Amino acid sequence: MIQKITQAELDRQQEYVRAFPSLPDRPMTYHIVTYGCQMNVHDSEKLAGILESMGMTAAPTREEADFVLHNTCCIRDNAERKALGNVTWLKEIKKVRPSLLIGVCGCMVQEEGMAEKILRQYPFIDLAFGTGNIHCLPELLYKAAERKGRVVDVPEEQSTLAEGLPVRRGSPWQAYVTIMYGCNNFCTYCIVPHVRGRERSREAKDILRDVEELVKSGTKEIMLLGQNVNSYGKELEGDWNFARLLREVAKTGIPRIRFMTSHPKDLTDELIETIAETPSVQRHFHLPAQSGNDRILRAMNRHYDRAQYLDRVHALRKFVPDIGLTTDLIVGFPGETEAEFMDTMDLVEEVGYDSAFTFIYSPRVGTPAASLPDQIPPEVSTERIERLIKAQDRHTEKCLHSLIGSVQDVLVTETSRRDETMMTGKCGRNISINFTGTKEDLGRILPVRVLSAGRTTLRGEKCLEENKDE
Ligand code: SAH
Ligand code: SF4
Ligand code: F3S
Repeated sequence: MIQKITQAELDRQQEYVRAFPSLPDRPMTYHIVTYGCQMNVHDSEKLAGILESMGMTAAPTREEADFVLHNTCCIRDNAERKALGNVTWLKEIKKVRPSLLIGVCGCMVQEEGMAEKILRQYPFIDLAFGTGNIHCLPELLYKAAERKGRVVDVPEEQSTLAEGLPVRRGSPWQAYVTIMYGCNNFCTYCIVPHVRGRERSREAKDILRDVEELVKSGTKEIMLLGQNVNSYGKELEGDWNFARLLREVAKTGIPRIRFMTSHPKDLTDELIETIAETPSVQRHFHLPAQSGNDRILRAMNRHYDRAQYLDRVHALRKFVPDIGLTTDLIVGFPGETEAEFMDTMDLVEEVGYDSAFTFIYSPRVGTPAASLPDQIPPEVSTERIERLIKAQDRHTEKCLHSLIGSVQDVLVTETSRRDETMMTGKCGRNISINFTGTKEDLGRILPVRVLSAGRTTLRGEKCLEENKDE
């Protein structure tokens, strides 16, 4: 059951916002450390928004903050170990500065048994909450700051949806907009459905209102977020789907639209046609394949086989010839033979991705794949991933070289730290391009001619043509 957080509950939280004290001589400061995917990055923007509404200010480092919050990820074992290692490191700071408040939230906290583990093994953690009760932060932090006891509130049910939380955005030009939460797919290796709850789509009117406000405030690019954006709207009233949402979002006049992530099984012709007809949708499509082998894909519960995946790739390229494709690949899924792995190598050759995120399978407690026989020894997986990365690197190089001489529209977002005249931004295909420019270029969409290619980035020069966005 999707539980929309009521206005009454949000109003109740506002009472804690108003009551939250500052220190005698200054406001309390916070620092958020974020792990994991864009979902978490955006959640951290909301957490920061809430903390600032409570009168707190951002501290540039953990060492300087009164409250350090770790927004954790548990997608793979190394993500989890990194988060726990850093939380434990804070214990030392707390020894010399006992007033430090330590909090953890995010996906790891939502894992089965983790709340109890935090209470038992991590006594220096003052505050822990889950992915579904971010909106309760004012109340939880208020209670933790009273120091009458530790505050651990991790409801089992994560299927909540809260609107209207304040957001402190990381960039004036680019913004994340969540369109749906959770996942229903239960890929057998994946922990996300267990820690993020069931799929729930935000109402289109709420999404469109957010995007309209962003357009007014000068945002140039939005990233629509969801674990499986293609299944947007399934449980909403009215005839909503992702393609229709995309068309409506485009009508707001936002110059650039991106989205993440798409599941191949739900990639419809309607969506592909919508992308082709909507110039503001950027020419980049992230289409996780996970494996190139049919038996492994079945064991992963991906609901497509290699031929169906390739059919979607061909359809994308037929309707949107200049689209750049990227993917996620897992090696060493339980039982993966050398021949099955070679099917993944072969897929990389056949598709020719712009780039790929490659992962060694990591068993996650509570997922079906973790208890499969034939777990692959780490040295075998490591050797496989090295071969895979090498194969993909050749395609990345090929892709970058194919763009030399072309003119790309770049949203300029950064100045190089080493050289103030060197500007960076991404082109429609989501590849970074460096070029000589000035600070005035920041936040503009400029045509840049590609002159040369590095290993993962391009180098270019500003064209003298008219700017597209002005
Ligand atoms: N919802 C998105 C991505 C979720 S997680 C999707 O379905 O594409 C991002 C990536 O992490 C996945 O695509 C997968 O490649 C990888 N991943 C997830 N669980 C993993 C595990 N247990 N071990 C290794 N990689 C994993
Ligand atoms: Fe995980 Fe699969 Fe859902 Fe992606 S679609 S979040 S990989 S279960
Ligand atoms: Fe990690 Fe949670 Fe994202 S497990 S990858 S932060 S949804």
